Amino acid sequence: MPRHFLRDDDLTPAEQKEVLELAMAFRDDRHVRQPLTGPRAVAILTDKPTLRTQVSFTTGVAELGGYPLLVDGNLAQVGVRESIADTTRVLDRQVAAIVWRTYGQERIEEMASFSAVPVVNALTDAFHPCQVLADLLTVAQHRGGVGALPGQVLAYVGDAANNMANSYLLGGVTAGLHVRIAGPEGYLPSPDVVARAQEVAAQTGGSVVVTTDPVSAVAGADAVATDTWVSMGDEDEAAERTRTFAAYQLDGALLGHAKDDAIVLHCLPAYRGKEITADVIDGPRSVVFDEAENRLHAQKALLTWLLEQR
Ligand code: NVA
Repeated sequence: MPRHFLRDDDLTPAEQKEVLELAMAFRDDRHVRQPLTGPRAVAILTDKPTLRTQVSFTTGVAELGGYPLLVDGNLAQVGVRESIADTTRVLDRQVAAIVWRTYGQERIEEMASFSAVPVVNALTDAFHPCQVLADLLTVAQHRGGVGALPGQVLAYVGDAANNMANSYLLGGVTAGLHVRIAGPEGYLPSPDVVARAQEVAAQTGGSVVVTTDPVSAVAGADAVATDTWVSMGDEDEAAERTRTFAAYQLDGALLGHAKDDAIVLHCLPAYRGKEITADVIDGPRSVVFDEAENRLHAQKALLTWLLEQR
């Protein structure tokens, strides 16, 4: 059976560390390993808008010696024109791995259940685990390396019920981080994700705090993150969400509660004046473009690692 990466806790703490260390090696030398030489193809299928995901996976597969095969979800219409099972069984005879950005988590789980090759979650409504690997790499880059991750405090403020909040919880505690998540009542992580994060934290020495108070979440943090208040698929609720999340804007005053040298993360796209102010995202603490670049290195490491497990 191939290994898949459908949610952050699909990697054990030791496995995640291996992937992050390999990602650091790719940061130093973009061609240090080329497991897709042949070239072998990787299908990159997207049902939702994308910039970083498409560019980083395409570039990454090419740098690994492979052939990136972009499949437009609007044309493929997975689950509409053709079942997920049949789509998977067509793809997995021809490609070395399948990367999919889609809606429900159950869709990618169904694909993985049929796939003879690794399936990678490039964002679902529930998780964005490749982004959080890149974010962990970014924290490591700026705060003493992969070995320095355990014990770092990561605060996330805003829509605490979305894919990034869930992935920060699971991916963060896997790395031994103290993860603090702040959002308004009604937009907090589901109890099952929190319980799973607590279970992993008990193994790694990390911890989990979920709160409605953004200041207590950010106080003394090493890294402060936020994300759009209106995720892909939530567009109809934009006005209501903008009102609901107003008190959770990451501005200079809120960032002032973090450590003096805290870094600022945002997976992008960013909406200045909404979830984050321009002075913060364009200011000296912001490392958001390192974070975007780290998608490339983290995903190359992940693909290399997954292909080696078979
Ligand atoms: N939470 C956002 C992340 C975008 C990369 C969304 O799902 O739209």
